[in-house]
Amino acid sequence: MRTQVAIIGAGPAGLLLGQLLHKAGIDNVILEQRSRDYVLGRIRAGVLEQGTVDMLDEAGVSRRLHEEGLVHDGAELCFGGRRHRINFKELIGKTVTVYGQTEVTRDLMNARDESGARIIYEAESVSLHDFDSTSPKVRYRKNGEWGELDCEFIAGCDGFHGVSRQSVPQNAVRTFERVYPFGWLGILSDTPPVSHELIYANHERGFALCSMRSATRSRYYLQCALTEKAEEWSDARFWEELKRRLDEEAVANLVTGTSIEKSVAPLRSFVAEPLRFGCLFLAGDAAHIVPPTGAKGLNLAASDVHYLSRALMEYYAEKTSAGIDAYSEKCLRRIWKAERFSWWMTSLMHRFPNTDAFGHKIQEAELDYLVNSRAAQIAMAENYVGLPFGD
Ligand code: FAD
Ligand code: PHB
Repeated sequence: MRTQVAIIGAGPAGLLLGQLLHKAGIDNVILEQRSRDYVLGRIRAGVLEQGTVDMLDEAGVSRRLHEEGLVHDGAELCFGGRRHRINFKELIGKTVTVYGQTEVTRDLMNARDESGARIIYEAESVSLHDFDSTSPKVRYRKNGEWGELDCEFIAGCDGFHGVSRQSVPQNAVRTFERVYPFGWLGILSDTPPVSHELIYANHERGFALCSMRSATRSRYYLQCALTEKAEEWSDARFWEELKRRLDEEAVANLVTGTSIEKSVAPLRSFVAEPLRFGCLFLAGDAAHIVPPTGAKGLNLAASDVHYLSRALMEYYAEKTSAGIDAYSEKCLRRIWKAERFSWWMTSLMHRFPNTDAFGHKIQEAELDYLVNSRAAQIAMAENYVGLPFGD
């Protein structure tokens, strides 16, 4: 089989890249190791920056997003038993859109099916070859039979545990990492959200987040120990703990119910540099991870895809490799901004084991400064809603 661009992974990064390239007349094949249903079963991000929404518009997959997505003008921080609103719209004139990653993925998969472009699910033992030459190849096994894809470029969009980054010689890549000493226990429930905007809560028992997917579906998270197992948390135990970490009004308004998903996610900051190795480009979680506190992961994946899609379109239309050559540097500038913000919000909102009384007081002082300083709120709003994706 031949194609121009082999895309590894059918998460948001791989699917969005595939759709944009297909629209630009660049042939591509997506290889995904899991089934379609498995990919759609993973509950992850919920908050989209305007830049991500713009890209989904450009890809022609945003009809449902505009019909069903919830535009949020602000978000709330809860600490010391009180809530404080950060009004993005008033501070910087921008908003975010709440629309689940699962739905973004579903819309992109449907568009792929309609376009007739090739996507191979349940591709096993995917391996990358000769990406330091001009004729790279990808091998895989499907239904017990081996296949080979000859291509011109490979896009490694296969997430943090994928094969693409692992195929690069160790001495060609530098990694930067911080693993946090806690995780997030998340549940999804068909109950109305406790508030019409997100609540990020800092409490002495640990962080909590109230989010949503729609007017009838909620997503809640609790900071938990890394040793915690989702099975050990009955729904009743989860709701009780959430109530302990919220303000009185939120507790009074909280509608509890049966969870439809429950899982624990570790928190990590990670960057691999560079993002390009000959004909192989890394994009999304394959190249970087942020802790979810700043809601940046999916949006960073979209910004990588923005730069990569433009670079490849330029290469095929104008025969110039300027975009390809600048890809890594352009992405990394944005990646480190998001890494800083996600690390900062994580540090601000969580309880860190082994932090002394001084550390707690500094955290309180920083929260107090944030909610009383317009300049600090503008800085937070600018980072949370995200910068426009540049050229
Ligand atoms: P992935 O979604 O991980 O997709 C990679 C794909 O590659 C997968 O389908 C995988 O099966 C496939 N794959 C892996 N290995 C191989 C292989 N060897 N061969 C073929 N295919 C392979 N981000 C936000 O922006 N906002 C949020 O609010 C937010 N909340 C989050 C909450 C949680 C609890 C978590 C865990 C994450 C959150 N994120 C958030 C992060 C966001 O979900 C990720 O950044 C996003 O999924 C990255 O997309 P991706 O396409 O790069 O990678
Ligand atoms: C979510 O809705 O899943 C969500 C929202 C905001 C975050 C992280 C996750 O910061």
